[in-house]
Amino acid sequence: WLALAVITLQTTALVLVLRYSRASTPGPPYLASTAVLLTELCKLVAIVVTIWLENGRSIGRLASVIGSEVLGKPRETLRLSVPSFLYTIQNNLQFVALTNLDAATFQVSYQLKILMTALMSSLMLKKRVRPHQWLALVVLVTGVCLVQAPRADPAASPERGSSLLGLSAVLAACVSSGYSGVYFERVVKYGPPQSLSIRNLQLSVFSLPFGAAAVLFNDGAAVAEHGLLHGYTRYTWLVIVLQAFGGLVVSLTMKYADNILKGFATSISILLSALVSWALLGDVQPSWSLACGAGLVVCATFAYGYSPRPAGLASQDPRELLQV
Ligand code: C5P
Repeated sequence: WLALAVITLQTTALVLVLRYSRASTPGPPYLASTAVLLTELCKLVAIVVTIWLENGRSIGRLASVIGSEVLGKPRETLRLSVPSFLYTIQNNLQFVALTNLDAATFQVSYQLKILMTALMSSLMLKKRVRPHQWLALVVLVTGVCLVQAPRADPAASPERGSSLLGLSAVLAACVSSGYSGVYFERVVKYGPPQSLSIRNLQLSVFSLPFGAAAVLFNDGAAVAEHGLLHGYTRYTWLVIVLQAFGGLVVSLTMKYADNILKGFATSISILLSALVSWALLGDVQPSWSLACGAGLVVCATFAYGYSPRPAGLASQDPRELLQV
């Protein structure tokens, strides 16, 4: 539960700081792909330090664990290249989305990933999705559409870039989020027993080369001309640290809760983000359709997790009640 609360705050802070870091720079903005790469580097350092701490702060044992559990198990390590590749694309798409959409619209439309997660959970983990839960998903989509309705008029937000590009990026990121999240959950919960740190390291060893490839592919010429850190401000560094920290908390929620509960946490952060976005960034106009849409999304999220409790099961594990 602590991990879920932390992820709620982290998601809210990340979206706002990311949006602010993109919107506030007067000159050319920093290159998103380099921020994604540095986030991966940050995560890798944190993971290696964690494994070092877990192994009695011994460099020798750290090297032997990495050798035997990561390099010595190439098949297991290779399996994690799939979510690693998708997460690299997803993390880059997140920047595209937040450059073209306001924070609240991004947050709410990104909730579609709950739908994708449910779909992937039922396909890949064979979780049962009850009829009322599918209904809740339809309500969720309706809520998301309502929130976006006022933004259908491009004249309403001329400086905001391309909404269509932003929404397409969010949709693609949702598919990746659902698939990669459930894939990682399956490996962590149903794969060969292994510590979470090692699984994160196996994911991370691919993220760096994929992230570097994304820099070359997207922004190779700009990096050659201006350098890797061109346009960086302290907000960029804050985004990097928040992203890295968030990724590690996400992995904790996947192991100790599940992807669906993680979805609840991020939905609650919509409300916080919309409130702060309206009060501090001024890029959200409060409207009835925004309010109703956000309300529907949040209600649907909770209805989705609702499961009638059979009489006499008062002490049932709440996690079971939130099973898909
Ligand atoms: O939006 P979503 O919840 O799918 O985002 C997941 C984020 O968590 C991605 O940025 C991904 O890189 C990160 N992650 C991670 N380590 C994991 C699983 C996800 O850093 N084991």
